[in-house]
Amino acid sequence: MIHDPQARLWLLSTPSSGYAVRLGPGDAPCNAHWGPRLTIEQARALPPDREELPSEGGGRFGPASLQIRYGDAVRGVEWRHLGHEHTAGPDPDTGHLAIRMADRHYPLEITLHYRVRPGSDAIERWTRLRNAGAEPITVLRCDSAAWTVPAREDYRMTHVVGDWGREFQLRRGPVPEAETTLTSRRGHSGHQVNPWLMLDAGDATEDHGDVWSAALAWSGSWRMTLDRDQDGRAGWTGGFGHEGLTWRLGPGEELETPVFTGVYAPDGFGGASRRWHDHIRRHVLPAPERPRPVIYNSWEATEFDISETQQMELAERAARAGVELFVMDDAWFGGRTSEHAGLGDWWPNPGRFPNGLTPLIDHVRGLGMRFGLWVEPESVNPDSDLHRAHPEWVLSQPNRARTEVRHQLLLDFSRSDVAEWAHARLDELLTGNDISFLKWDMNRPVTEAGDDVWIPYIRNVYAVMDRLRADHPDLLIEGCAAGGGRADLGMLARTDQIWTSDNTDALQRVAIQHGYTHVYPACTMGAWVTDSPNRITGRLSPVRYRFHVAMAGALGLGGDLRSWSEDDLAQAADLVALYKRIRPVVHGGDLYRLGDCAVQYTRGPETVVFVWQPSALRRATAPVLLKALDPDGLYRDEDTGAVHHGAVLMSHGLPRPLPFDAMSELVRLTRVPRP
Ligand code: DGJ
Repeated sequence: MIHDPQARLWLLSTPSSGYAVRLGPGDAPCNAHWGPRLTIEQARALPPDREELPSEGGGRFGPASLQIRYGDAVRGVEWRHLGHEHTAGPDPDTGHLAIRMADRHYPLEITLHYRVRPGSDAIERWTRLRNAGAEPITVLRCDSAAWTVPAREDYRMTHVVGDWGREFQLRRGPVPEAETTLTSRRGHSGHQVNPWLMLDAGDATEDHGDVWSAALAWSGSWRMTLDRDQDGRAGWTGGFGHEGLTWRLGPGEELETPVFTGVYAPDGFGGASRRWHDHIRRHVLPAPERPRPVIYNSWEATEFDISETQQMELAERAARAGVELFVMDDAWFGGRTSEHAGLGDWWPNPGRFPNGLTPLIDHVRGLGMRFGLWVEPESVNPDSDLHRAHPEWVLSQPNRARTEVRHQLLLDFSRSDVAEWAHARLDELLTGNDISFLKWDMNRPVTEAGDDVWIPYIRNVYAVMDRLRADHPDLLIEGCAAGGGRADLGMLARTDQIWTSDNTDALQRVAIQHGYTHVYPACTMGAWVTDSPNRITGRLSPVRYRFHVAMAGALGLGGDLRSWSEDDLAQAADLVALYKRIRPVVHGGDLYRLGDCAVQYTRGPETVVFVWQPSALRRATAPVLLKALDPDGLYRDEDTGAVHHGAVLMSHGLPRPLPFDAMSELVRLTRVPRP
């Protein structure tokens, strides 16, 4: 970070980007640059542009990042600069900058935080408010950051939308004049739209052009408002909470927002995605170095009808396929024999597991696998012992009906006694049993919550997860909300992977994975191979195809392996063994999208390419041109032994066509020395 006090300028630099903040008229902190790296001399030539955290009042008519109401009903902020602190990181560009501001008249302190991490092109931003006075202050909105992109003739937005079973559908289109809001009011980050967006000038491609993007580290309700003003300029503000919530900031109290991370990429959407993957793997995930095990999950096989012997039988089949961790999903606990009962009663169902979980866990361990369990700690069925004992723990409001979704209610996780209870139950399960993995599900949105619930609820979920991880350092957590309803940087900071979607149809999964990996790395993308026909779509697809799609993420098996033929199981074992060989490349490599239906991962000398056809007869005719190889290099196909020139692979593509009956292809290439 370089500070120029005369120019009232701070310049942040990452390996390939620069970000400049400059105080404008009346001390307002403004963006001066977000784009390629600049020298301090170059940054000085740029005037203050749009505000870093626009409030209301004066000549401001755009969406406000900061909406404040003081005791006398006056609103907004008139800025006064107090100073700054910089904590240096391991090298001169990295570290944490806090620009301290206050209102000119009212006792409100506002600190704008910026952080640059080693080797990352991400700028992490967040805001802290402090009431330094004796009267309460009302906060109507406090965004983490507003992001300004340089003036361009036109703009285009990229984001993902969807629904249950149809998460992460990529959308790219013009930014309309006026305001566009992306939001979740559901108390989780949502299936409908995920909390990130990308902006370009309408001219970026997969490999070229400027792309600006940002993703919010928050797992509850959120809002981002993209504003294209009357001059055609675009930028966006975003943060936690949906519209209409208010917070009371008592004397001496602080409010700190989640981190909103921005990434500028000069090399197209592919470059933006790789920068996100790198940043998340190095600086967000709690245990990035830990290999994600091949899991088996029992949900699709057995749903609510489970027993000890049946789970043991599934475990035997899973072990034969090479699975490393066996997860028993829903219905192992309390009176949970359907959606109607049992949530909240986190002890083994005595009818189904008369001797507790130990016999099953021992069996799984004896087969050489680790063991995991499904939980949904935030939920409760009215028909449960927990609800009978603590009806007052349910999230509800006086004079309002309680909304049931999937026959369940939510616990008021904003209450510290509820969070303590949840921690104690989960801790007891983990301490008393040899459990290495929790799938933490949340199958319904938040309803009937007061203003004071939405933020502490999520913070307490985070705190329980963080505490469990700290006390059980080998624990892996999979984040889930009826599939991919709670995938965000906040969840990824305390989980190892996300259950991407309940839709396990391999063909539809290609589009889901395409959207998911635009920001989130493949090592976090839970992907199961399930039965054919698929239980949701009824589609038939070959074992190899189902594997080739799931092997592009964190592979799991999720079908009823008892019904798989010996031939299918043998193929599964071969493909799992192959996956284990390519896992370091898929999880740790650079991802290059080769069109919509092919992906390349490259790590050092190794490259893995997946190609997926829409069907055996509908063939993609476009050549699959590889990327980022050394044109002068030689690459050996590990299956055929053929050696290809890098230049030829990049200009003419993989040798085609596929065998007639193949719907998918997996090619492994290793760079070899010239003879
Ligand atoms: C929703 C999840 O997405 C499924 O994988 C499964 O765990 C069910 N919940 C269990 O109720």
